[in-house]
Amino acid sequence: MDSKNKKKDDQKKSTKSNGNSKSQSKSQSKSTSAAQKKKQARFGEEHEGKLLEFFVDEVKDIYFAEHEALKALKKMEKAATSKALKDSIVQHHGETEEQIKRLEQVFELLGEKPSKKKCEGILGIIKDGEGVIEDTEENTMVRDVAVIIASQKLEHYEITSYGSLAELARTLGKDDVAELLEVTLDEEKKTDVSLTVLAEESINEEASNE
Ligand SMILES: [Fe+2]
Repeated sequence: MDSKNKKKDDQKKSTKSNGNSKSQSKSQSKSTSAAQKKKQARFGEEHEGKLLEFFVDEVKDIYFAEHEALKALKKMEKAATSKALKDSIVQHHGETEEQIKRLEQVFELLGEKPSKKKCEGILGIIKDGEGVIEDTEENTMVRDVAVIIASQKLEHYEITSYGSLAELARTLGKDDVAELLEVTLDEEKKTDVSLTVLAEESINEEASNE
């Protein structure tokens, strides 16, 4: 029997075992429902506690990821050939610094000290990206294509993280946290779109002519 059905069964049993007089039954059901409410509230708090703990852990994960992204963007800027791509990366580097500060505000709102949780996922994406870039020739548009792909893989990790975290913050009733995360989510999405435009409008074509 699952917990929901068990609860229902228990409720039925407690109704059956209640006394014969109407008033007795009424007062007992009142106290039962108060006890149940208390129990439910405790159950909710416990679950929210666990979810909050998980949420904080995930914020630490993305805090780590943003710091790693900052380092990766520096390397990508150096690797990029075209001025348009370099400019786009420089702009995103500046945004990333702001995003880190925004996460520090999130920690503050959660009553936590900013701390990082090592994330193998982002390290793998960055390592993979570095490999793809290294496999291309310096000062070529093919290398720019590789930089864009590496950068977009990273962006998508961040978009997924911020999207999920913003939703979770709303579930936890932390709208102020959700709003901060949504500002960053929008920036990440815009960066992703601008990289796609860059690839479609010039870089992919130029690379195909090399
Ligand atoms: Fe970011």
